[in-house]
Amino acid sequence: MYGRTRGVLLAVLGAVSLVAGPQAGASAAADKPSLAPTPPMGWNSWNKFHCDINEELIRETADAMVSSGMKAAGYEYVNIDDCWMAPQRDAEGRLQADPVRFPSGIKAVADYVHARGLKLGIYSSAGTKTCQGLPASLDHETTDAASFAEWGVDLLKYDNCNNQNRPAVQRYTAMADALAATGRDIVYSICEWGSNKPWEWAAEVGGHYWRTTGDISDRWGSMVSILDQQVGLEAFSGPNAWNDPDMLEVGNGGMTTEEYRAHMSLWSILNAPLIAGNDLRSMNDTTRALLTDPDVLAVNQDWGGVQGHKIADSGDLEVWAKPMSTGGTAVVLFNRGVAGAQVGTTAAGLGLPRAHSYTMRDLWANTSVVTRSPVRASVPPHGARMFVVKPGGHGNPSVATDVVDNTGGYIEPGDSLTANVRVANDGLRPVRDVRIALAAPDGWTVRADHGTKVHVVPPGRTATVGFTVTAPATAANGTHALTADVRYRDGRVPGYGAVSIATRPVGTPWISDLAPVSAQVGWGSLGVDKSVDGHALTIAGISYAKGIAPHAASEVKYYLGTHCTRFTAGAGIDDETGKRGSVTFTVTGDGKELADTGVVTGGQAAVPVDVDVTGVTELVLTTGVGPDNNNYDHSEWVDAKLTCEG
Ligand code: GLA
Repeated sequence: MYGRTRGVLLAVLGAVSLVAGPQAGASAAADKPSLAPTPPMGWNSWNKFHCDINEELIRETADAMVSSGMKAAGYEYVNIDDCWMAPQRDAEGRLQADPVRFPSGIKAVADYVHARGLKLGIYSSAGTKTCQGLPASLDHETTDAASFAEWGVDLLKYDNCNNQNRPAVQRYTAMADALAATGRDIVYSICEWGSNKPWEWAAEVGGHYWRTTGDISDRWGSMVSILDQQVGLEAFSGPNAWNDPDMLEVGNGGMTTEEYRAHMSLWSILNAPLIAGNDLRSMNDTTRALLTDPDVLAVNQDWGGVQGHKIADSGDLEVWAKPMSTGGTAVVLFNRGVAGAQVGTTAAGLGLPRAHSYTMRDLWANTSVVTRSPVRASVPPHGARMFVVKPGGHGNPSVATDVVDNTGGYIEPGDSLTANVRVANDGLRPVRDVRIALAAPDGWTVRADHGTKVHVVPPGRTATVGFTVTAPATAANGTHALTADVRYRDGRVPGYGAVSIATRPVGTPWISDLAPVSAQVGWGSLGVDKSVDGHALTIAGISYAKGIAPHAASEVKYYLGTHCTRFTAGAGIDDETGKRGSVTFTVTGDGKELADTGVVTGGQAAVPVDVDVTGVTELVLTTGVGPDNNNYDHSEWVDAKLTCEG
């Protein structure tokens, strides 16, 4: 299976060299030095400091890279991003360092960095100016590459701003050739944002790695959306040719520790260049531990260089896997949802050969357990667990926990539910003396239905312990964690579950007066009693005071809690599109389709929807993009109303 991936890589590169033959042949790319046999590791100033940089920062960062243990862990490049250069070239037309920020010049900084056994990276753009409006290298490639080499620069990040719409392959090849002509070994980092599918040509023109997307920001949503854009790119990656999903945000403060652990786990298994983007001088122990875990970094730096890829995806839960040269497979169990959940696969799912047992090394926890085949674990919300799984082993069993409840998804404030904590013995030996506790948020009560102790769970068996959990009458709508703590003779594992609180609708509410339990829209944000563009809801010349406007493709969920009997609405496209757009409207109750309008087009009168929702707990209103793309799909549910008890 993985052999085939490599075959695809070679085939693709072969195809590209045919297409790009003349340019590729003329460039020095064929002689690209092997400077990145594994993904480069280092630091870059941009994510944390933007233009607020100077030579002290770079020197102090080099010192911190050594003193913090980052260098020992493998981090090597200290990269100065945008804003290092003076606003004008010198009299000879050469770039010069900003006299205030870098009064000693770049060579002095490079010497300082080199004296610590580290390397210096610098930045320019394949345009007339950098993204911050400073002089850049388009049509100055030879001069600028010569300056970089003379200063002792070891890496160039080459950006894409102000590119005059000139062809990317030409612009990036010109700098590759200029770098090669200097004779100095300089890693070439192509920062073209994925605009022209650089994975198809950047390696050929001499790039050691290339950005696949726009800029990352220090937000969970940004990280996950970049992750989604990596799917399918694995075939283009390999030694000296890495996909770059952008630099790390670990330690910058915009995500939780578990979110950063997921970010680090995923970037590692993706063979991403690991370029830290935080302040190394002041990072705390948690950040340092996330950035320097030797087992996690070993997955990223595996000499075979086969990029990990997604092997399973069930909405919020994903499994990413990467074959290791040492035998075995690295795996990330990823939970992108807001509720804790068990995530898993099997040894066969990971492409491992048949064996009596497998050892799972938990890379973050530094423990090893044995499984017969399941590779599963409970994963916190917005979190990840990371293992290397290898055939063989006889040690402690893998104990997989799971917290499941009987709510069907929701309870109302003041209500109770039964939460079952399941403890599965995936190993070869019995699990003995099991004690199970379950914790809920403050103000909730948790009572064990029977005992909380299990004498023994034999191999291949699951023990279940039930709890009655009661939410306070004041519980807020939303997701609340239920966390199990499972202790046994040889270990302890957590179990992450959750319960959603929702308030029942009463009377005959407009849905636009209810808070949806979730709302995903294809563009903009959900319009409530107004259109996506902020106008009065208007379909085929008729205005409506009440309704929601979720741009297609959309999915908006409401909690009915079996208290309602009817849903009525009109489905159509707002006149603000000038009669353009086409959308399908679907109503689903607890997973069962209740209504489907077929294709509705712009200018068409609102299509009446009238469905029986008796017994429905969760109502889902979906709009699809119709036969064309999602342009002008300003879909609306107007006069949308429920009939409920009370
Ligand atoms: C672009 C790049 C970023 C950073 C900035 C600097 O946005 O994609 O990584 O280098 O420019 O201006």
